[in-house]
Amino acid sequence: MSSKAPNAPLNVLVIVASTRPGRLGPAIADWFVRATLPEAAGDGIIVDVADLADIGLPLLDEPEHPSSGIYVHEHTRAWSRRVAAADAFVVVTPEYNYGMPAALKNAFDFLYHEWAWKPVGFVSYGNTSAGTRSVQMTKQVVTTLKMMPIGATVALRIADSTHNGQVIESAGLDEAARGVLHELTRVASAMRSLRTGTDSDDTSIPGPVDGLRLTTARPDDLAELLVLQRCCWVQEALANDTLDLQPLRETLDDLRASMSTWQLWCVRRHGRLVAAVRARAHERAWLIGRLMVAPDQAGNGIGSWLLSYVERQAPEETTHCELFTGHRSTRNIKLYERAGYALTAADGTPDGSVYLTKQRQLSA
Ligand SMILES: Cc1cc2nc3c(=O)[nH]c(=O)nc-3n(C[C@H](O)[C@H](O)[C@H](O)COP(=O)(O)O)c2cc1C
Repeated sequence: MSSKAPNAPLNVLVIVASTRPGRLGPAIADWFVRATLPEAAGDGIIVDVADLADIGLPLLDEPEHPSSGIYVHEHTRAWSRRVAAADAFVVVTPEYNYGMPAALKNAFDFLYHEWAWKPVGFVSYGNTSAGTRSVQMTKQVVTTLKMMPIGATVALRIADSTHNGQVIESAGLDEAARGVLHELTRVASAMRSLRTGTDSDDTSIPGPVDGLRLTTARPDDLAELLVLQRCCWVQEALANDTLDLQPLRETLDDLRASMSTWQLWCVRRHGRLVAAVRARAHERAWLIGRLMVAPDQAGNGIGSWLLSYVERQAPEETTHCELFTGHRSTRNIKLYERAGYALTAADGTPDGSVYLTKQRQLSA
C-alpha cells in the first residue's frame, strides 16, 4: 500500500495496450504525452509510459492469486514496481473485436493491490466506434481492481484523427487530452488518502497507542520496510558487537523473495511505517522473525501488541511459536520473556543467537 506524502508529485503511468508489430498505439501515446506536457510540467506531474510490448509479460504465469503479493517471477515484480509507483493511469487502447486487447487484460490480471484506489483515464482509438466499446469493457475490469474510471475521455476515430500513423494536429484534441490529465490528477490527489488505510484486508484492531494500522505487507511497502529493518538492526549490531547480521545485508530483492516463503505484516502509525514482523509454519512450529519497532516508537507497547497478533495467526496444526535474537539483545529477550517465551539454549548458539519458544494455547 502506498504511503506517499500528500503533497508528493503525482506519478501518471500511460499504458500502451496494443503489442502487435506496426501498431498505432505508441504514436497515440506519444501524442497524448506531447499534448499534456506543458500542463504536466507546470503542475509537477511525472508522466511515464509503459508500453506493454516492451514490458513483454507472458500470459499470467504466477501460481498465487495476485492479492497475496507473492510473486515468483521477476517480470511480475518489475511490473508490480511500475504500477505501484503510479498514482494514476491513462490507458491508451484500441478496440479488438469490440473489446480490450488481451495483452491489456493480462497486464491487469498480473497484479492486484498495486492498482487499487487509483484513477484511470482512457484514450481510445478505432474505426466506427473510436474504441469506446473497448473502454466500456475495460471499465468493468478496473472497478473490480478498485480503480476509479474518470469521466473525461478521448476517443479517436482512426480515419478522422490520424494520418500516416500519426495523430493529426488539432487544438480540440489537445484540449481533450489536457482535460483527461486535469481530471485524472484531481481525482488522484483525492484518492491518495484512501491508500493509507481502508483496504478490506487491513486489520483494524485496537493498538496500544493511537493511529496504528496493522496490515499484511504489500510489494510497495518493502522499500520502506527495508529502511526500517536497517535502522532497527543497527541497534542489534551495537548490542551484539557484530555487523555480520543478515537483516543488515538484505537487499530489496531479498525482501521481495522472502514474500514467497514468509507472511509479512506492517504497522503504520498515521501513515508512517513503524513496525513489522514476519512468520511461517515449519512442521509443528510457527516461526516468528524480524519483529521490529522504529527506535523512536520503542517502549510504547507496539512490539508486544504485534507479537501477540502474529502469534494468533499461527495455523491450527502448529504447537508452539519459535523465534531467536542476539544473545546480548537483552531488551528483546525481556520482551519475549514477558510474552511467555522461554530460552531453549541458555548459553547461546555458535552464531551468538538465542532461541526462545512458547507453547500455543490450543483450543479444545
Ligand atoms: C484483432 C483486431 C481486431 C479489431 N477489432 C476492431 C473492432 O472491434 N473495432 C474497431 O473499431 N476496430 C477494430 N480493429 C481495427 C483497429 O481499430 C485498428 O487496427 C487499430 O490500429 C488497432 O490498434 P493497434 O494498431 O494499436 O493494434 C481490429 C484490429 C485488430 C488487429
